[in-house]
Amino acid sequence: MESELTQGKKIILSGIQPTGTITLGNYLGAVKNWHNMQSQFDSIFFIADMHALTVRREPSEFRQTALSFFAQLLACGVDPNKSIMYFQSHVRQHAELQWILNCNTYVGEASRMTQFKDKSAKHADNINMGLMDYPVLMAADILLYQSDLVPVGIDQKQHLELTRDIAVRFNNRYGDTFKVPDGYIPTTGAKICSLQDPTSKMSKSDPDRNATVSVIDDEATIVRLFKRAVTDSGSEICAREDKPGITNLINIYAAIENKSVGEVEKEFAGQGYGTFKIAVGEAVAAKFKPIREEYQRYAADKEYIAKVANKGAENAAYLAERTLRKVKKKVGLVSF
Ligand code: TYM
Repeated sequence: MESELTQGKKIILSGIQPTGTITLGNYLGAVKNWHNMQSQFDSIFFIADMHALTVRREPSEFRQTALSFFAQLLACGVDPNKSIMYFQSHVRQHAELQWILNCNTYVGEASRMTQFKDKSAKHADNINMGLMDYPVLMAADILLYQSDLVPVGIDQKQHLELTRDIAVRFNNRYGDTFKVPDGYIPTTGAKICSLQDPTSKMSKSDPDRNATVSVIDDEATIVRLFKRAVTDSGSEICAREDKPGITNLINIYAAIENKSVGEVEKEFAGQGYGTFKIAVGEAVAAKFKPIREEYQRYAADKEYIAKVANKGAENAAYLAERTLRKVKKKVGLVSF
């Protein structure tokens, strides 16, 4: 997909749902890599606002959150001079391709998705069509841009596999159309767990304020959250299956400091949980301090966000339309 908008490098694409604020989990599992990879790849990043509609939202709060997420991504170092950044709902091709992919996806496949089952259990009063169709929209997001790599946390692996299945099926039925993408899942940070329940993933929508750390939390809050983090019995600082609390903190420290788990274990050998928790809190706080400051600057400049997002949507739509036109022709829709 070489054009004036891309430099003919491999294409990476990813998205994030605007709910709550960007967490430490989102940062280490995905956004940090978006920032690190954007110079090396043709990069496309978007706010997955249509995905977020699968859960009931208060409209004015939702709008504010989506804008705030855009500012948070900029503050995390996603650079509009290097990456195409936009709101998913501003590029109609996502929904159009989703319809065609829907007609090439089986209900059985979609209903087997773990996230669909989890979300259905959590929102039993609102198991809407969008909830089940969610991964097909995600497949459309990815396949529209002929993406090579999708940098995400481990929780998105199953959705990526479905995307690959849909792409292969479509290509077999209609001839080569889509690039079959690979996931890019980091070795450390792919699954950051809740600070209060280290057996479940840290989630933006967790109602327990002590469970998640946000990239825009202040330093005192971050250190306090880590001091309160649930740990395990014993006192040794080592990553082991029967020590999920300490293992999670080791993973966080390793990912923040770009160290291996072994190096972190060695660094803190013989020290107590209390000292370690403060060290992790301070490392995270130091990393997020400039992000919080940049966020305040971007969040106050709605005009700049509008400019970047409009330009991003225009560029994205141009690229997306190329694939969509091809797809419509392949399936036999009339065009003049
Ligand atoms: P979302 O908004 O839930 O999460 C955004 C990114 O953060 C990663 N992530 C985590 N990584 C490590 N530890 C955690 N605790 C953690 N929690 C979340 C997610 O894996 C994700 O990479 N469906 C997607 C958004 C999306 C998308 C796409 C992604 C829509 N279309 C196309 C890639 C490609 C989602 O809900 O992510």
